[in-house]
Amino acid sequence: MLLSGAAMTACAEAWARTSFGRNKVRRRLIPIVAALAWIASAGWFLLMQFALGNSGCIYGRPKRDRDGRASLPSTRHRRRVGRSSPSSRSLTRHWLQIARGEYASIGAFVDLEQSLLALGAPDALVAGCRRAQVQERRHAALAADLVERWSGARPRFVHEASPTITTDLARIAAESYLDGCLNEGAAAAEAAVRRDGVTDQQVRAVLDVIATDEAEHAELAWTIIEWAVAVDAPTTIRALESARARTTPARRGIRRPFWMTTARARTLGWIDPELCRRVHPDIVAAAEARLSKVLESEASECDARDTPDCGERPSDHHSFGCNVEPDRLHDTVGVRVPG
Ligand SMILES: [Fe+2]
Ligand SMILES: [Fe+2]
Repeated sequence: MLLSGAAMTACAEAWARTSFGRNKVRRRLIPIVAALAWIASAGWFLLMQFALGNSGCIYGRPKRDRDGRASLPSTRHRRRVGRSSPSSRSLTRHWLQIARGEYASIGAFVDLEQSLLALGAPDALVAGCRRAQVQERRHAALAADLVERWSGARPRFVHEASPTITTDLARIAAESYLDGCLNEGAAAAEAAVRRDGVTDQQVRAVLDVIATDEAEHAELAWTIIEWAVAVDAPTTIRALESARARTTPARRGIRRPFWMTTARARTLGWIDPELCRRVHPDIVAAAEARLSKVLESEASECDARDTPDCGERPSDHHSFGCNVEPDRLHDTVGVRVPG
């Protein structure tokens, strides 16, 4: 938008220097014409955003930086000439958005694996993270296949985010709940619902894989939480209670293009906002109920052991590495990212 504004200003200045622009009346017209052209191009840009559908969400485990902010990889992708029908462009954007989120999840699991290794976590949890990296890589490749199918060109991804390795148990517990139990749990449930309405065999196969693997990742997150509670109950419980209090009520989905009906979106496997609104409350309620059970069982064990510091503010012996107070972790389910 800024570039087009600058280009139009330059054109207007060049025009003013021509013999045509030296006339007084015409000279006054030049800025008006330039402003109208800029407004028209901005309107066209906004209309295309609305027409093609868009999103600012990550559908899986987000890659977070040291401050807890989620980011997506940038994309190198040019659709082939002749593949620009509104339908193919919308589907390209939809699956490109999903592919970027899947690609980001690879890095998220690399970070988690390294963090768990640094904390001396059980081998099964570390191995689970390694397995999840392979699965996320596969999800990204499958989504890229669909982008290639509709655009004629395969996308490439570049994620410049640096590794975020932490030994902060509170952060690991909070992220496991928000990013794993909730966000990956929601991704699994949504993929399962979307799969049922899809008529396209390739899309259906992709959603099958994502639904199964994301459910496994959500379970891995629950196992990490149980381990974290066993390692340091006060730290973990406080972090989880804080995370639970900040659960957002709904994922946004990816807005449909205006010409796409709900029924059509269903056959295409679209992450429709309506579908998210329908599916999501149950996911949050189930996760909250399960978390309450984990916290209650730990509280009753504390009572049985008569441990005085259970549930109190913990010491910060995990406070090296990239610490982030759980309160500073950015939005939870359907993590929003810029761009
Ligand atoms: Fe995934
Ligand atoms: Fe995942």
